[in-house]
Amino acid sequence: MTLHYDQARWEDPDSEGYEPLLSEKNRETVSTEDVPLPDGLKRDSLSLPGLTEPELARHYTRLSQMNYGVESGPYPLGSCTMKYNPKFTEDVAALPSGLVHPDRSASSTQGTLELLYGLQDYLARIGGMDAVTLQPPSGAAGEFTGILLATAYHEAKGERDQRTEVVIPDSAHGTNFASAALGGYDVVELPSGDDGRVDVDALEAALSEQTAALMLTNPNTLGLFEREIEEIAGMVHDVGGLLYYDGANLNALLGRARPGDMGFDIMHYNVHKTFATPHGGGGPGAGPVGVVSDLEPYLPTPQVRERGGEYEFFEPEDSIGKVHGYTGNWLVLVKAYAYIARLGDEGLVDTSAKAVLNANYLASQVEYEIPNGPFHHEFVASAGEQDAADVAKRMLDYGVHPPTTKWPEFVPEALMTEPTEVESKRSLDQLAAAFNAVAGEDEETLASAPNRTSARRIDQTSAARDPRLSWQALDE
Ligand SMILES: Cc1ncc(COP(=O)(O)O)c(C=O)c1O
Repeated sequence: MTLHYDQARWEDPDSEGYEPLLSEKNRETVSTEDVPLPDGLKRDSLSLPGLTEPELARHYTRLSQMNYGVESGPYPLGSCTMKYNPKFTEDVAALPSGLVHPDRSASSTQGTLELLYGLQDYLARIGGMDAVTLQPPSGAAGEFTGILLATAYHEAKGERDQRTEVVIPDSAHGTNFASAALGGYDVVELPSGDDGRVDVDALEAALSEQTAALMLTNPNTLGLFEREIEEIAGMVHDVGGLLYYDGANLNALLGRARPGDMGFDIMHYNVHKTFATPHGGGGPGAGPVGVVSDLEPYLPTPQVRERGGEYEFFEPEDSIGKVHGYTGNWLVLVKAYAYIARLGDEGLVDTSAKAVLNANYLASQVEYEIPNGPFHHEFVASAGEQDAADVAKRMLDYGVHPPTTKWPEFVPEALMTEPTEVESKRSLDQLAAAFNAVAGEDEETLASAPNRTSARRIDQTSAARDPRLSWQALDE
């Protein structure tokens, strides 16, 4: 009997703490003699794990602790906004009245439609947009929808053939480049200025009558506000292009500034980052898209509107069609609605205050070099002579999740850090202590990390090129 306790591990069956698969635990041969099936359909014998319910519960709890999540500790994964989401939104999403079959008639689902309409309205007001579609299931899908809307707009003006380019800053998220390319555009990469913001002269050179759109996020991925945004918008509009807002960083602006007022024509909202759905593993999320009135006729179908006190679906006149089944990821939308309603105007303003305050406080405590600043919701430090990936692995040993590393590439050994609005000063101090402990460590210590986690340093190349995807029994 083992009396030594180790956190669950999986890579080596001989290691302390190895947690076998359920099917490997206490296998018992069960007799099939009394099974009421015709003989031809019966197995001779059946081997199953013989476990009690507490053993089963403990197995899964142990497995759940092998990973690091927002409920394990601070998770400052820059750009991703990995924040703790309050549980009341789960309760709201689990209400039986929310589980309406999507094919039911509008007249028998007025409450559902009212919520969707209300969320369209909340988001339009928060973003300063004229209309919103709730359909896209992620930020990236929202971007692609936005690109399709831009195409429809240019087509209607007879300019699609001429407008072949989408301009994107080099600090932008990879999905921006992918969405533009998938939409059939040539990407023009815009080098950032020395201060990490859009270089207006470089933008001038990049824009032309071929420009379909400029995709920007503001504050950008360095956490820096684009102060020249009105001039930038004017420049894009002067050449007949559209200005697209990547809403991934909206938590920095909530209740204080609106992309629509800055001159943006299209935006997506990552409701799973800004509002209340866990973001990770690819979703399921929601990436609603807002547009100014000129683009409203092209929105995906169906939209929800209110007529004489009744809510109904309708198809915008020149709709690009559907980008997701029904109205999108309904339960994620319910959570976003509940979260915004609970926060109210004051709560939204408080959210952006804390997102910005937390990032700046943490930046002031971290000993790594941090170019630029002051920041909005995130900052990018440089690990200098250390390898940012090693820093990340070592931070796990101190019980915190690492920041996003090595992006943007123009910051050497980048550590993109976003503490989010939900962390307390205690958690921020814990994070700063972890950063600073690692900053003082030698190469050898970093290269061997992590040493205290369930999975140690894995061979990433083999994991990618030669993955073991099927279960093999221990005795095979
Ligand atoms: C700046 C930025 N834009 C777009 C996205 C894409 O969003 P999603 O992950 O919802 O597809 C992300 C994702 O983290 C992001 O950080």
